[in-house]
Amino acid sequence: MQPSKTPLLTHDVIAQRVGELADTIARDYADKDLLLLLVLKGALVFGSDLMRRLPGRVAVDFVRARSYTGPNSSGQVRLLYTPSAPLADRHVLLVEDILDTGRTASFLQQHLHGYQLGSLRLVTLLDKPSRRENELTADYTGFTIDNQFVVGYGLDYEEAHRELPAIHVLDNGAVK
Ligand code: XMP
Ligand code: MG
Repeated sequence: MQPSKTPLLTHDVIAQRVGELADTIARDYADKDLLLLLVLKGALVFGSDLMRRLPGRVAVDFVRARSYTGPNSSGQVRLLYTPSAPLADRHVLLVEDILDTGRTASFLQQHLHGYQLGSLRLVTLLDKPSRRENELTADYTGFTIDNQFVVGYGLDYEEAHRELPAIHVLDNGAVK
């Protein structure tokens, strides 16, 4: 599987947008200590770029859920890892790579509501609203994309392609 030379979103375009998101988030949380909760594994690259564009103190932790077993969501969400830091009264920003059906993020939101957080918001790099099965919307969205399977910049197909610096469409198992 060879990546083509024409990504859907180049690394430069992504970097520009991540900077814009960071500026907005920094303004919104100017008087608060922010805890970024990265949804493993897909948000690893986006989250680490985002945190480095945020000025001031930022704490980071991780959560891991799985709802996905191939090009179509399986429907079930399971929690595989929860944050180690105490979350009560924290201002938590859940960091997702992509919103597809919306099941994973809404499952995580419901789970996190049990922790008596100070606040909870959601940032996603990518959004496929045409696939949504619930009312979920992100507070901050990088890019809205069509219903196509994408890889790179942390996103994988069966654990491949996360390392690509840009985001590419995957078509019939090949990176376009
Ligand atoms: P749901 O349907 O719960 O799915 O919103 C969210 C998770 O599904 C994965 N996903 C993708 N992964 N390219 C990927 O590499 C895609 O186009 C894609 N669409 C959904 C992803 O793990 C996300 O967190
Ligand atoms: Mg994911």
